[in-house]
Amino acid sequence: MKNLKSTKTLHNGVEMPLLGLGVFRVEDGQELIDAVKIAIKHGYRSIDTASIYGNEVGVGQGIRKGIKEGNVAREELFITSKVWNSELGYEETIAAYEESLAKLGLEYLDLYLIHWPVEGKFKEAWKALETLYKEGRVKAIGVSNFQIHHLEELMMDAEINPMVNQVEYHPRLTQKELQKFCKEQNIQLEAWSPLMAGQLLDNEELQEIASRHGKSVAQIIVRWDLQNDVITIPKSTKEHRIIENADVFDFELTKEDMDQINQLNKNHRVGPDPDNFDF
Ligand SMILES: NC(=O)c1ccc[n+]([C@@H]2O[C@H](COP(=O)([O-])OP(=O)(O)OC[C@H]3O[C@@H](n4cnc5c(N)ncnc54)[C@H](OP(=O)(O)O)[C@@H]3O)[C@@H](O)[C@H]2O)c1
Repeated sequence: MKNLKSTKTLHNGVEMPLLGLGVFRVEDGQELIDAVKIAIKHGYRSIDTASIYGNEVGVGQGIRKGIKEGNVAREELFITSKVWNSELGYEETIAAYEESLAKLGLEYLDLYLIHWPVEGKFKEAWKALETLYKEGRVKAIGVSNFQIHHLEELMMDAEINPMVNQVEYHPRLTQKELQKFCKEQNIQLEAWSPLMAGQLLDNEELQEIASRHGKSVAQIIVRWDLQNDVITIPKSTKEHRIIENADVFDFELTKEDMDQINQLNKNHRVGPDPDNFDF
């Protein structure tokens, strides 16, 4: 765990960067293109988007600019997208993958995820992801917002177990049991809304830990993710924050700090509940 290029080995041997840039709720356009480009220039190697974000075209443009100006090869980057709920189904999911690639202007993705566990649909979609993987069209496949019972249901018939589960995860939602299960199954946990969508940054306990380390609350949370073995993708479109969120490799949280942060858990979600969503 040395720098932004540090990776975690997924169960199929693929190396996934520990830290990446999220781009949820960033409209397609110049701000997005610049954010992706700037992130790559500052050393980010992982970008997380989804078909539902409606910004894959701009993400692709940002990637091409980042590759050029950052003097980086495509193979050094790790690009994730996700199949949306209305695209779940064998043929539909294959078609959705093609569409994401076309919009991004890429020949392959590093990681393709089922965005939400829509009952009665995610198993067929998983078969499509397995086909894409076996054909060598995607480097790794996984899921998002899957609870333990969703994972168990999926793995009952799966040929290939998911390599990643991307879920809401932050100090108010520490997902202990899910994390333990994923670890046992060799599924890498990845945090979305790691900063609780920005709502944790004025937390007094976190501020106190941050001032002790001479770091910001965002940096404390990102570091807590990494020390908990959780891959993380904080979102920002501002250059100074993109830099700040990745400047987490020069300090370490103590066991006491980690315990104190873990105790902030309230099983509190800012996003939808995977067991009770209607989209
Ligand atoms: N799989 C899923 O269902 C799912 C759901 C939600 C999100 N995600 C992914 O996870 C990524 C991250 O989650 P998120 O975007 O919801 O929330 P987040 O990363 O927890 O927080 C982002 C918010 O915090 C602000 N921020 C970022 N860094 C900051 C800093 N250093 N200081 C102060 N404010 C800061 C950002 O504002 P500025 O941009 O103005 O800096 C933005 O408002 C998403 O972008 C997306 O890629 C996935």
